[in-house]
Amino acid sequence: MEKQNGAFGSRAGFILAAIGSAVGLGNIWRFSYVAYENGGGAFLIPYFVALLTVGIPLLILEFGFGLKQRGSAALSFARLSRKWEFMGWWAPAVSFLLMTYYATIIGWTINYLGYSIFQSWGTDTESFFFSKHLGLTSGFWEIGSIKPHILIAVFLVWAINFVIIYKGVQNGVEKASKIFMPLLFVLVALITLRGVTLPGAMIGINKFLTPDFSALVSSKVWLAAFGQIFFSLSLGFGVMITYASYLPKDSDVVNNAFITGLGNSGVSFLIGLGVFGVLGYMAHQTGLPIEEVVTQSIGLAFIAFPKAINMLPAFSGLFGFTFFLALVIAGLSSSISLVEAVTANLMDKFNMERNKAVLLTCIVGFVGSAMYTTGAGLYFLDVIDHFVMQYGAAVIGIFECVAIGWIFKANRMRSWMNPKSDFAVGKWWDVLVMYLIPLTLGFSVLKTTIEEIAQPYGGYSSSAIGVGWLTAVLLVIVGLTISKMNWADASLLNGEVE
Ligand code: TRP
Repeated sequence: MEKQNGAFGSRAGFILAAIGSAVGLGNIWRFSYVAYENGGGAFLIPYFVALLTVGIPLLILEFGFGLKQRGSAALSFARLSRKWEFMGWWAPAVSFLLMTYYATIIGWTINYLGYSIFQSWGTDTESFFFSKHLGLTSGFWEIGSIKPHILIAVFLVWAINFVIIYKGVQNGVEKASKIFMPLLFVLVALITLRGVTLPGAMIGINKFLTPDFSALVSSKVWLAAFGQIFFSLSLGFGVMITYASYLPKDSDVVNNAFITGLGNSGVSFLIGLGVFGVLGYMAHQTGLPIEEVVTQSIGLAFIAFPKAINMLPAFSGLFGFTFFLALVIAGLSSSISLVEAVTANLMDKFNMERNKAVLLTCIVGFVGSAMYTTGAGLYFLDVIDHFVMQYGAAVIGIFECVAIGWIFKANRMRSWMNPKSDFAVGKWWDVLVMYLIPLTLGFSVLKTTIEEIAQPYGGYSSSAIGVGWLTAVLLVIVGLTISKMNWADASLLNGEVE
């Protein structure tokens, strides 16, 4: 039986939405730093190998699976077998958890969009961020109080997501992506142009791109490349499966995956030039070595960049606004895919109307996000992100390869999707999906676990680390529990889907 939760109106709409999910905060603050840390220009080699051997093949797998099974992650896996349905809940559970703090970070970027106009972060951007903006407490268990300005911004993020997802796939996700993505592209182009033309920009760009070939023998560098690709392409979250299920049945799989994968990396690379151009300028202005001005993640976006913006020779308010607007848009276009994946699951399993499912998702999500708006929010976010993202998505990736490569059968998927694709994938794809990708992900999970045990993450207390592990395990239990519940409309599971 067919039940359609929505459909994309055009191939371009789908590709923009998929790139929208992939291009997120991670592209802006993670890629350039990871590249710089792991061999600079030489990092591009493992990065491309990872893109071609894991990223795009897994995208093909998730696109193909969603398109073939024609349902949310839960329905797609349940149609494979009720035994595998837990995968379709575990992945969206991880998505949901990611969304609770992703929304909070987007909230901060909205706050900073406001601060950028008058550069109200002042000269000491570091203490502004930690003390004034976050009101950070002295430890994990010291919760402090909710910061109203952050809570309001987070509310806005959930409200925007609600409106977009409520409107459905074509009028919501697709329309939003058609506005967000071209806008984001213009913003990124502006940031990059400004970044590379600043005095001293080359100091930064050289650091970013000078190859250190000795890095290529380090397994750490290779794992960083695989991790970056995996996270950046939103793999292992059920979102690409959900999006692909909204394509017409005869849609191309292989080429869409290549366009999405290459497009995402292209954006990362462009932003990397801009970011390092700005950092080079900062080194030039302050006379500090570039090593001292480079930071990653929130440090880059909320501390280093505001400082750089202060120093700009002209139009600093405008540049600041452009930068934070790019973060807001990149964040929102990713967040809608997370909310859609969860909403679609609820609609399928419990036969909920879209409006009810999205309302439930957004209300519970907003309450969850509120936790990160407290004075200990940054600690919660850091610990949970580390444990859930490090393990959750990668382990799900392994299971996906087993479920689709071995149970559904890779060659069956390939012979189903090849005829409708612009170009076909060969037997190498089966080998990757069945052996190489699960082994690579398995090795990476094993290695991080060993390191984790040797040295607990980030100097947190063991109780805080316990919360991290507990959350990761809890998501598996949630996935298993929901998958055991009855389907409101069991006929959805029956019959040949095609
Ligand atoms: N790709 C996103 C980024 O680079 C992060 C992300 C990971 C994500 N998994 C996701 C976004 C699932 C949306 C859905 O920031």
